[in-house]
Amino acid sequence: MKFKVPATSANLGLGFDCMGLALELYDYFEIEKAERWELLGFYGSISIDENLFVTAYRKASEYKGYKEDPLKVILEDDIPISRGLGSSAALIVGGIYAFNIKHDNVLSRGEMLQIATEIEGHPDNVAPAIYGGLCVVKDDHLLRIDVDERWNFGIWIIDEKVSTSEARKVVPFEYSRDDVINNVSCVVLSIDALKNFNTDNISLIMEDRIHEPFRKKLIPGFEKRKEYALSIGAKAFIISGSGSTCLSISDKSLDVQLKDVVYKEVKVNKEGVINV
Ligand code: HSE
Repeated sequence: MKFKVPATSANLGLGFDCMGLALELYDYFEIEKAERWELLGFYGSISIDENLFVTAYRKASEYKGYKEDPLKVILEDDIPISRGLGSSAALIVGGIYAFNIKHDNVLSRGEMLQIATEIEGHPDNVAPAIYGGLCVVKDDHLLRIDVDERWNFGIWIIDEKVSTSEARKVVPFEYSRDDVINNVSCVVLSIDALKNFNTDNISLIMEDRIHEPFRKKLIPGFEKRKEYALSIGAKAFIISGSGSTCLSISDKSLDVQLKDVVYKEVKVNKEGVINV
């Protein structure tokens, strides 16, 4: 059995820890029955017990009260690791989905989201990885929105990594009333812009005051690249997740000519995790 899990861009500027978008870039998992866990193609030398795919598979087994039955898993990963594109969420969703297809889909997508969020700590990557599209989550309330297909999402990958835990430390716990009003209004207007191809309002997605002002210092060359992206036609340029990758949003294809950036342009993924 083979399935794919999409990359995801969390926060989308304004929706810190609650909003995320699925993209047409994937990790592919092939699974088969095995006597003991066998993981091929996984990055690094992490033990089976620490592997996020296995952790998630086990958590799903425990949730249903099933005895763990190990797998051989072959991973082909196109999602860059630790770059703010949901590589950890893809492993978590992969593990839970593998459990589910192996056990006649006993889990609903809502249950998959609940288990994945418990592991990840926030739902903004795992929700779009499961459902596709643009997702906003508050506890067990989920809004899934179809994004207009005319939007192009540019992924700007640089060599430097940013550790999510370090990037979370620089985000404050308290904000002024003005900052909260700014984000609440802009997030609603930018969701409308993504859904209805409103090219004027999409620039509001850059008005974030919750995380970008504090995190951009951790990403070398952020301001320079943002200025460049806007000069070649991007309508918006934001940090993807906690970085270091950035995401441009444009209504046309961008001709990016920067030596220190690997640039990929993709559309929104609509289905979320799915068999292939
Ligand atoms: N919402 C998370 C953050 C996404 O920005 O820290 C990264 O996992």
